[in-house]
Amino acid sequence: MAKISPSILSADFARLGEDCRCILDAGADMIHFDVMDGHFVDNISFGIPVLKSLHKSFPDAVYDVHLMISHPLAYCGAFAASGADYITFHLEAEDDIQATIDAIHAVGCKAGLSIKPGTPAEALFPWLDQIEMILVMSVEPGRGGQAFLPSALDKLRILSAECHRRELTPDLSVDGGINDDVTGPQCAEAGANLLVAGSALFGAADRAKVIEQFHRL
Ligand code: DX5
Ligand code: ZN
Repeated sequence: MAKISPSILSADFARLGEDCRCILDAGADMIHFDVMDGHFVDNISFGIPVLKSLHKSFPDAVYDVHLMISHPLAYCGAFAASGADYITFHLEAEDDIQATIDAIHAVGCKAGLSIKPGTPAEALFPWLDQIEMILVMSVEPGRGGQAFLPSALDKLRILSAECHRRELTPDLSVDGGINDDVTGPQCAEAGANLLVAGSALFGAADRAKVIEQFHRL
């Protein structure tokens, strides 16, 4: 069974609370919270005050914060204090990786590391025993609704095999262009146990049905 972390980047921000309630009631395992700073990626999305409000309304939800920002180290404390459970940052960000993983753990969160499509899976190997989540990007980070890049599948296979070989059990997640009929099944088959989906889920007429489909993978 795959877990599903809906990306609320594709939610209707004028009805963010209702959209979150809808996917949580439908069985979403986490809420994927995409933070963009206009520097690491060219877009700007949302940040700390929005997480704080959501956490106040849905205190029992698990918040999977995906930082697409240049300086994650400076913000770990604020995201943790606002309700983050997982804090995932990019291997390509400018901050010291070891210091950032340590800072995330020090504030009581689980640490995730993400790679962009141009970064090889092996670049994550030195960090695998220290993180609770791997996030393979299957689109260039920066916006929702892009087409899935199949090169992510080989990365998932490589990372799944390496974790298995070393008896490590971080969540292996994939983000970008994931749907419940084609790319989600391919990623689950390649070893992903956590699927991030934005437009395919929030754009669906029956979100509960889509979440159920993901859970079947
Ligand atoms: C992209 C974000 C993704 C995005 C996924 O930069 O990290 O989480 O919202 O959206 P879809 O599922 O529409 O590709
Ligand atoms: Zn994301």
